[in-house]
Amino acid sequence: MAAASEPTTPDPSIAELIARRPHLRLHAMDGLLMEDVPLNHVVDAVGTPTWVYSAGALRARYRALAQALRTAGLDAQIHYAVKANDHLAILALLGREGAGADVVSGGELRRARAACISASQIVYSGVGKTEPELRLALAEDIGQINVESAEELHTLSAIAVSMGRTARVTLRINPDVDAGTHDKISTGRAGDKFGIPWSDAVTLYAEAAALPSIEPIGIATHIGSQIMELAPYRAAFARIAELVRALRDQGHSVRVVDCGGGLGIPYRNDPGPGPDALAGAIKAAFHNLDVRVALEPGRWLVGPAGILLASVILQKQSGGNRFVVLDAAMNDLVRPAMYDAWHGIVPIAAAAAVAPVSHCDIVGPVCETGDTFARERLLPSLNAGAVVAILDAGAYGAVMSSPYNARPRAAEVLVDGAALTVIRPRQTLEALWAGEVIPP
Ligand code: LLP
Repeated sequence: MAAASEPTTPDPSIAELIARRPHLRLHAMDGLLMEDVPLNHVVDAVGTPTWVYSAGALRARYRALAQALRTAGLDAQIHYAVKANDHLAILALLGREGAGADVVSGGELRRARAACISASQIVYSGVGKTEPELRLALAEDIGQINVESAEELHTLSAIAVSMGRTARVTLRINPDVDAGTHDKISTGRAGDKFGIPWSDAVTLYAEAAALPSIEPIGIATHIGSQIMELAPYRAAFARIAELVRALRDQGHSVRVVDCGGGLGIPYRNDPGPGPDALAGAIKAAFHNLDVRVALEPGRWLVGPAGILLASVILQKQSGGNRFVVLDAAMNDLVRPAMYDAWHGIVPIAAAAAVAPVSHCDIVGPVCETGDTFARERLLPSLNAGAVVAILDAGAYGAVMSSPYNARPRAAEVLVDGAALTVIRPRQTLEALWAGEVIPP
């Protein structure tokens, strides 16, 4: 599938979008609320563009996933994929719920530790870990390193020997399964850069077992992101289960199966598997293998819990189109430009809910045609100063933003019940060029 987000059904209405997101509701006077905080209060307090996250939604989502795994009778640990949203407040909140962390750089490892996630609950994934990063992982004695190549395995062994440490290792296997998601976020096909080819797995596991300071503990896989069907998961898990049996037949110990992340979310209110279905697929593949299951979900936990608030700079007509120009842009939320991603967009004013709608394009002010959040959306007239919420922006939102066009990082706010905390003030312009040097 070229672009998983290509619409095949009519867009959900504003009311349908709000109804499916329990932490959002429309109040007749105050307009759109997140939990008990009117979003216009957030705008008054910090302006726009601003990311707003719901602590209640984050907790509810973590608990729903953990419960699904428990109900399926799985011995499972959730390692939140830090890359989806690496803010310390989010990491600390999920850590308090019991989440470990899946990190892909020394920076993410340090972030997870700074948020008090214990080292034993950290797994380290990634196709190119540097020697200093591997050294950091061993110095911190993290729970698991997901090795992606023979080259990395040997480097890790040498470093571990030199440090007098043992590396607990899973081999990340590429199961050659098409996750049916956007090309740029598919990771488990034979031609992708990720993982160890399935056919090399047994040989390399034996090699790992023989290497000094390496303790192979299991197998990992991750086939892609924003996966909206169970079939690719089932196919990948079946191959991994087959591999576990083959390894045990050869006398190897396999205690852990890390099933990766990738569970998709219904950006367009579209049907897809939830945690119960995923837990069922894991159980079906591994229940009689007596393994501990690890998961690395990112998007599913944090995506729906966050929105990006943006103000309308102006509304204009051009070439027969109505354009709504926002003060947020592709430098803030790059997903539409990068993956043609569809995000719901709803005005926060109460009156907008009953105003007549017509088609418009929602764009940012950056000097690129790709700086388009949405095309042909049915929205009411949105004059200068109106505020919209771009939905499901909690994952791969703030964390992927850039200072392109000398645009400072947007502010970030965490809402918890009626409480509102600015968890990152808006970046100042001076901070943008602090550290830049003009040679004499
Ligand atoms: N584990 C590994 C090894 C990963 O590479 C990823 C995501 C995850 C877990 C978490 O996947 P999730 O549960 O969030 O789908 N920027 C893109 C998504 C990139 C995902 C990269 N890897 C987007 O905005 O759609």
